[in-house]
Amino acid sequence: MKVSNFEEYILHSPKTVGKENKKWIDSALSFADKNLPVLEIGSGTGIDADYIESQDFTVHRTDIDDRFIAYQKEKGKNVQKLDILNDKIKEKYSLIFINAVLHHFNYEELGRCLKKIKTQASAIAFSLPNSYKVNIPEIEHELGLEKVYFQKTDMWCLYVFFNPQNGGDLVAP
Ligand SMILES: C[S@@+](CC[C@H](N)C(=O)[O-])C[C@H]1O[C@@H](n2cnc3c(N)ncnc32)[C@H](O)[C@@H]1O
Repeated sequence: MKVSNFEEYILHSPKTVGKENKKWIDSALSFADKNLPVLEIGSGTGIDADYIESQDFTVHRTDIDDRFIAYQKEKGKNVQKLDILNDKIKEKYSLIFINAVLHHFNYEELGRCLKKIKTQASAIAFSLPNSYKVNIPEIEHELGLEKVYFQKTDMWCLYVFFNPQNGGDLVAP
C-alpha cells in the first residue's frame, strides 16, 4: 500500500532516529554479522538505513514506491524496487529490517511475508502498531523463530527475532 499524500508524509516524518528506535535497532544489529548486508524493506525516507550504516553495516535499501526511491536517490542513496508481497528476495542477509510497513498487510499477508523473509536472514526485526493484533507465540512456533527482543512504545511494538535455522550458516554471496 502506498502513502497517499507523499509531500505531507515527508513534511511530518522524523528526520533522525529517536532514542527508543535506536535501542531497538542496536539490539537487532547485535544479532547481525557485518560480513553480510542488512536488507531494509520499505525504507521510506531512509533514516533507519542511515543509522544502520552509521554503525558500520551495509544496507540494501528497498521500497515499493518510486517516490521514496527517487527521494533517497536525490540524497545519493541507492534504493532498489521491492514489493515484499510479490517479489522474491534473492540474496542472504544478516538482518532483515522492516519498520512501519507490515501493518499495511492483513494477517495472512503478514504470515506469507515472514515465511518468505525467514529463509533469507538469521535475524528479523519489525515493528507493528499496538493496535495490530498479532499472535507472537504462533509466529514463533510456525516459523521456528525465537523472539529475542520486545519493546512497547506509545504507538508501536518493536520486535527482533532470531532464526536458529540460519544462525551461523549463512555465507556471503
Ligand atoms: C509508513 S512508511 C515507513 C517507512 C520507513 N520504514 C520508516 O519507518 O520511516 C511505509 C513504507 O512501506 C512501503 N511499502 C508499503 N507496501 C510495501 C510492499 N508491499 N513492499 C515494500 N514496501 C512497501 C511504503 O512505500 C513506505 O515506504
